[in-house]
Amino acid sequence: VQGNKSSFEMVREPHLLLIPYPAQGHVPPLLKLASKIAEHGIKVTFVNTEFNAAKIMATMPEKAEKGGLIRSFEGADQGRLTNLMNVSPSLVLLLIFVSDGLWNSPTKWESRELHLFLMAPPTLAVSFHVKKIIDAGIIDNDGYAMPMTDEWISISEETHPWKRNEFNWSCPEEPMIQKIFLEITCAAAETVRISNWVLSNSIYELDSPNCDLVPKVLPIGPLLASNHSGNSAGSLIPEDSSCLRWLDKQAVGSVIYVALGSTTTLNQQQFEELALGLESSGQPFLWVVRSNLVNESLTRFPNGFKEKLAGRGKIVEWAAQEKVLAHSSVACFLSHCGWNSTTEGLSMGVPFLCWPYFADQYQNRRFICEVWKIGLDLTPDENGIVTRHEIQRKVRKLISDDGIKSNSLKIKEMARKSLVEGGSSFKNFERFISQVKSS
Ligand code: UDX
Repeated sequence: VQGNKSSFEMVREPHLLLIPYPAQGHVPPLLKLASKIAEHGIKVTFVNTEFNAAKIMATMPEKAEKGGLIRSFEGADQGRLTNLMNVSPSLVLLLIFVSDGLWNSPTKWESRELHLFLMAPPTLAVSFHVKKIIDAGIIDNDGYAMPMTDEWISISEETHPWKRNEFNWSCPEEPMIQKIFLEITCAAAETVRISNWVLSNSIYELDSPNCDLVPKVLPIGPLLASNHSGNSAGSLIPEDSSCLRWLDKQAVGSVIYVALGSTTTLNQQQFEELALGLESSGQPFLWVVRSNLVNESLTRFPNGFKEKLAGRGKIVEWAAQEKVLAHSSVACFLSHCGWNSTTEGLSMGVPFLCWPYFADQYQNRRFICEVWKIGLDLTPDENGIVTRHEIQRKVRKLISDDGIKSNSLKIKEMARKSLVEGGSSFKNFERFISQVKSS
C-alpha cells in the first residue's frame, strides 16, 4: 500500500468496458473501436445486451453459441451491470445515446468515461450547444425553430448553417417524439460534458469548424472493419455473400447499390416506386430489402418486376456493406445518409444519391451534396413520394457527373491519409491510447 492506494490498484492495467446501445447501428462501430483499442495491447471487455443476444440467437444461433461475435452478458439493467463491474475496469466506455440513465456508471466504480459519438460533427456540435441555442431564442423549449428566425440558422460564423426543421431532434408533425428527441439531445450534451474523452467516428478535415466547437472531441474515424479484423463482425443480421459474386460479374462502375440502413421503413407505394425507378434506370442494381423495410405486413414487388429483371437486379436481405462499397463494379450508393453509411461510402470514394428520413440524416445529406459535393439529392414530389422518374433522372445525372466522381475520390484520399501514420485520425488515436495507458 502506498498512500491510500492498495498495491492491487497500483499495478492495475487499463481495462475498457464497452457497452453498445441495443440497436444494430450501434454494435459494429463499437466493435471496430474495440478491435482498434485491443490492437494497442489494452484489455477490452465487450458487453452484449439481452436485446442484441436475442437477435443473434434468432438469426445466427451458431455464431452466438461459439461466442464468436461478442461475449454475452445476461443483463441490461443497472443492478446487473454493477455486478459485472466487479471486474473493476479503469475506464467505462459508453455510447452517447445511452445517456438516459440506463448505463450511468455507479459512483462506486473508480472509472473514467469515454463516449464514442456515432453521428457527424455538426450533430455533435449542435447537441453540445443545444442549451445555448434555446437560451438564445433560436429554438423554443419544444425544439421548434422560433418564428422570427430565418430559413437558415447558424450556430457559429464558421459552421455550415442549419435549415429550419433539419435539426436532429426535428419531427414537426410529432410533437411528443420531437420533445423526446430534444430531451435525449440535452442529456447527450451533458454526457459529453462530464466524459473524459469524446471520440468521434469522423475525420477532422471533413468538418473542422464543427469539430472545433466541441472542446474534448477527438475525431478518430473512419472506423472501418477493413482496417482491423478484415470482416464485418457485429452484424445482427446474416449477410448474404452471394451479392459479392454477383458484383464480380458486373461491369466496372455500373451498379447502383441501394441500402437504407437498419431502421428506415417505406410505405408500399414508395417501395414500388423505388422498384420501378431502379428498373427504368437501365443500370444493374444491388438492393438491400430487409424483411421489415416495408411498414406493412408484406413486401409486394410490382407485378412481374423480378421476372423482367433477368439478372440485372440483385436483391438481398442484408449485405456486407463495406465490401460492396469497396467493389469496383459499384457506381453509386442510394443511401438514407445514416452516419455509418456516410463514412463507409465516402471512405470508398462512392458518389451518393441521398434519401434521408430522420434525425441526423438531413444534415449528413446537406454535407454530402453542398459541402463536399459528392452526391445528389432525391427530391420528393408534392405528395412526399420520390417518384420513379426522379430516381431514373438522378441516377443518370449522377453517373455522368465527372465533378462529383472526382470530388468523391479526393475525399476517399483524405480519409485514407487521416488513418495512416502522421494523419489526423492516426495522431488523435495515438494521443488517446497514450492517455489511457498513463491513466
Ligand atoms: C442509425 C441512424 O439511422 C443514423 O441516422 C445514425 O447516424 C446512426 O444510427 P442506421 O439507420 O442503421 O443507423 O444507419 P447507418 O448509420 O448508416 O448504419 C447502418 C450500418 O449497417 C452500416 O454500418 C452498414 O454498413 C450496415 N449495413 C447496412 C450492412 O452491413 N448491410 C446492409 O445490407 C445494410
